Amino acid sequence: VDPLPIPAVLKPKGNSVNAASYQATMTEFQQQLLPAGFPATTVWGYERSFPGPTIEARRDKPVAVKWINELPQQHLFPIDTTLHGSEPWQPQVRTVVHLHGAHTKPQFDGYPEDWYTSNQRKNFAVFNYKNDQEPASLWYHDHAVGNTRLNVYAGLAGLYTIRDDVEDALNLPSGAYEVPLLIQDRIFTGEGDLFYPYVSDVETAPCPSVIPVFVGDTILVNGKSWPYLEVEPRKYRFRVVNGSNSRPYRLRLVPDAAPDTSLPFHQIGTDGGLLDKPVPVGKLVDGEPAGPQVTVAPAERADIVVDFSSFTPGDVITMRNLGITDFPSTETVTFLIQFRVVESSGPDTSVLPAALRPVPRLDQARVVKERNITLDVVQDEYLRPKFLLGNARWMDPITEDPRLNTTEIWNFINTTPNGHPMHVHLVTFEVLSRRNFDVEHFNNTGEIIFTGPERLPPNENGRRDMVRVPPGTVVKIIAHFDIPGRFVYHCHFLDHEDHEMMRPFEVVPGGGKSAKS
Ligand code: C2O
Ligand code: CU
Repeated sequence: VDPLPIPAVLKPKGNSVNAASYQATMTEFQQQLLPAGFPATTVWGYERSFPGPTIEARRDKPVAVKWINELPQQHLFPIDTTLHGSEPWQPQVRTVVHLHGAHTKPQFDGYPEDWYTSNQRKNFAVFNYKNDQEPASLWYHDHAVGNTRLNVYAGLAGLYTIRDDVEDALNLPSGAYEVPLLIQDRIFTGEGDLFYPYVSDVETAPCPSVIPVFVGDTILVNGKSWPYLEVEPRKYRFRVVNGSNSRPYRLRLVPDAAPDTSLPFHQIGTDGGLLDKPVPVGKLVDGEPAGPQVTVAPAERADIVVDFSSFTPGDVITMRNLGITDFPSTETVTFLIQFRVVESSGPDTSVLPAALRPVPRLDQARVVKERNITLDVVQDEYLRPKFLLGNARWMDPITEDPRLNTTEIWNFINTTPNGHPMHVHLVTFEVLSRRNFDVEHFNNTGEIIFTGPERLPPNENGRRDMVRVPPGTVVKIIAHFDIPGRFVYHCHFLDHEDHEMMRPFEVVPGGGKSAKS
């Protein structure tokens, strides 16, 4: 019943020759997430807004943001004090902002232990982003160690868009016809408050406890439950961002008049920017997916173009989440947002070009090191399942230490029964392959025997910072490490990330000369 809110664009506080400077303050406030008539919800947000205001950046034009913490001392949700960094003596409410997808120095990256509180004398951090990267849909969110899942769930997330002249010249749908869709699942109490489950299925677990995976029953898009957007019969560009804690979505566009069909559309970009050319997606043949589909796991982005020109005013098309059979679901989460077709306000002069822009490719001949990183599951001391990377915990010594200005291949080897969306800070990587392998043979011998064909669809063949690693697969990525210092990589299921499925890595001096790859 509610129109889709579009987050306001953050206004700079000042513009110097060096950088546009912004300020964003985190506070607790009430916002109407549910339709009028339901209670307002207590949330956390930047600049009294959930999602936070969007930051609009241009390539190579630096941005500085002063992120200020004015949150209360008590968290909105119960804290599991057995998690790393969440011990009883730590402040409950600690924050540090990470710009997801940013190519930036480690001191501005939001290292999970660089948190601060509202009652510290320095209750803020000023982070500089150079934006020396491909134009893309980034998003910022909290990343405090041990509390990321709860801080993001409370509302600490917003969008950040990088553009440049080359992309502008493509004349893709823009202005009112370019719309961000930040999708998040939530659970509400009868009083309209956000609820985060804190009782583990494992009897020996403490209470409150982290849970293996959060799944909500209510969909928010841009902070509103199941909204609608009025669209003209023309092309639209949607920047889809999955800001959910754990839930993946597979997107379909279903005309209400023909509920068994789906409207094909195009994917034009991924996490790290535009694809070489638009990829046709979302086709169904006899009710079955045919060809590439758009799946967004947590933190993944899909830049899509949808053409509504075959519809007439009064038609309704629903963006649905279908085909996620391997994830706990209720029917309610199969509905995302409704598009209601209205009169056209003028001709559509935008284009969907046959070629977008060449994806900058990394040179495999320059790879100096290949690393195997296992995704493992063990039990913690309370017998809860605990997922690890390379069988190591957050506090264990660094094992991934690429040399500065070198290119590496990382193999994510998933030995667990679950899929995990893997994210690496600092870099945008390319996915080289995704294949099934014999897990049992690997566990016994350490040798990888592939058991299936390549499973990499063309719409994942761009620069990315996220990759889905389904159970029983090895995913091979290639990345170039060009800023020294300590960063992190982790599973973007936030409950996993807070419970040891996150590792530091360090780019160490001593590599080759800086060279643009
Ligand atoms: Cu979206 Cu390390 O985070
Ligand atoms: Cu995981």
